Amino acid sequence: VVFESSSEASLLVAREIADLIVDKNNRGETCVLGLATGSSPIRVYDELVKMHRENGLSFKNVVSFNLDEYFPMNPESIHSYHHFMNEHLFNHIDIPKENIFIPDGTIAQQDIPAYCQGYEQKIKSFGGIDFQLLGIGRTGHIGFNEPGSHYNSITRSITLDQLTREDASSGFHGIENVPKKAITMGVGTVFSAKRIVLLAWGHKKAEVVKQTIEGEILPQIPATYLQEHLNTTMVLNTEAASML
Ligand code: GLP
Repeated sequence: VVFESSSEASLLVAREIADLIVDKNNRGETCVLGLATGSSPIRVYDELVKMHRENGLSFKNVVSFNLDEYFPMNPESIHSYHHFMNEHLFNHIDIPKENIFIPDGTIAQQDIPAYCQGYEQKIKSFGGIDFQLLGIGRTGHIGFNEPGSHYNSITRSITLDQLTREDASSGFHGIENVPKKAITMGVGTVFSAKRIVLLAWGHKKAEVVKQTIEGEILPQIPATYLQEHLNTTMVLNTEAASML
């Protein structure tokens, strides 16, 4: 779906999420959200915060799982995705703290596999992700599933692509400060979500958007796997859709 402006598109995506939360709440059910970081979802989070403040949208029945976190990364660091989520969403809504799950960038290297298994189990214990929000990296990554990621990969540690680290470098004041690794939900984890919405804005994303939608399904561009997901929408602005 192509919109003229990313703000108009973000509002509609936020409304879809809000409607799902309310609908689940009316049924007495938990709403499991898969959440993303990066600049793309910020407006969606702004709109959700606004709906909480102005329309009383409650997040008490929401459980959230974030896609990824840098490794190593202290959750207190301003560079952490923990910090990002608190700043843009969690500090401003009534989601219970114990319902928030974000991969832990402080665990010992040798404990990562067991930790990642636990993250998968946790998602399953809530019945899986109802709605997964995604951005896309210029390498074609979703979460931090860099080129080469298998379609049924699960939560694991991954080495970040050079381009991904370059794109993150301005926020870290230089590429040398960008962590080399991350913990990310796998493509398979994302794929098991009942509904997926991927956001992409701006000319910088036009090339990878074209490959994702029109290209062959290839592990070199993990986002292409989404072509086979039965309930995925890519929400674009005109710049991001300019090469289609
Ligand atoms: C990071 C995140 C991704 C995100 C991507 C794009 O790599 N791990 O989840 O989709 O950045 O970021 P942006 O939305 O700022 O373009």
